[in-house]
Amino acid sequence: MTATRIDGKAFAAGLREKVAAHVARLKSENDLTPGLAVVLVGNDPASEVYVGSKNRQTLEAGMNSYEHRLPEETPEAELLALIDQLNADPAVHGILVQLPLPKHIEEPKVLAAIDPAKDVDGFHISNVGLLSTGQKAMVPCTPLGCLLMLKDHLGDLSGLNAVVIGRSNIVGKPMAQLLLGANATVTIAHSRTKNLAEVARGADILVAAVGRPEMVTGDWIKPGATVIDVGINRIPAPERGEGKTRLVGDVDYASAAEVAGAITPVPGGVGPMTIACLLANTVTAACRSAGLPEPEGLTA
Ligand code: GUN
Repeated sequence: MTATRIDGKAFAAGLREKVAAHVARLKSENDLTPGLAVVLVGNDPASEVYVGSKNRQTLEAGMNSYEHRLPEETPEAELLALIDQLNADPAVHGILVQLPLPKHIEEPKVLAAIDPAKDVDGFHISNVGLLSTGQKAMVPCTPLGCLLMLKDHLGDLSGLNAVVIGRSNIVGKPMAQLLLGANATVTIAHSRTKNLAEVARGADILVAAVGRPEMVTGDWIKPGATVIDVGINRIPAPERGEGKTRLVGDVDYASAAEVAGAITPVPGGVGPMTIACLLANTVTAACRSAGLPEPEGLTA
């Protein structure tokens, strides 16, 4: 048996089209152009690539993009002052501060300074609390993308056994909350979990978000399970030439695809969904701030 490949790239393109259609309607019917501010401190190469893509895709969806690039040595107080300014700016509906931040800046303090209504990353404690109590929240983009793909593929998730490997604040914990909200039976496993393979084998839905290249192999997977691979790991690929690398997930695709019912590839699975969900969250935030009905199909 070979698993169905869940095409995140195509799904993300479809979501971006929906976002662009909503944006066009907001502009023509409500004279409202959603705006997203992205703040990058320092010049981490991976972060620079992400921020560039966020900017380009925001503009392509017809929204306004406000990019703020600050030097590595920016004092924390200066970053907090910029956030205050963005919080007060009516043209800005979403604010994203790219992580990780330089070591001299306290991340929780910065995240707490963002107006929760503009927190399109869903990292503010208010949004974390709203999500975990089943209320209307801004939801972190990567787990939101995973949930949208799962619902698209499986329909109703009620009563399914979901195992999330990884307990990060960005992916693992909010993923578990979203699955619980969709009535799945949820286990959060992690590096200290005993008999991890056995726990994973109980999953109808397996979400791998640990950051260990190809850790999850076919023998960890229940036949027919749906596997979502959140990992993005760059590993040496000497077969491609000296010094070359390639991207792999947390799941060993070849062996997993022999057992799973469906699986997301890396690249081209979860990755493209993250920015598409960021755009969706920005439209949702703009509608909420203007007291307009929320667009359908863009939220959990
Ligand atoms: N760095 C890696 N992933 C993310 C994300 O989803 N949001 C932000 N702000 N920074 C990140």
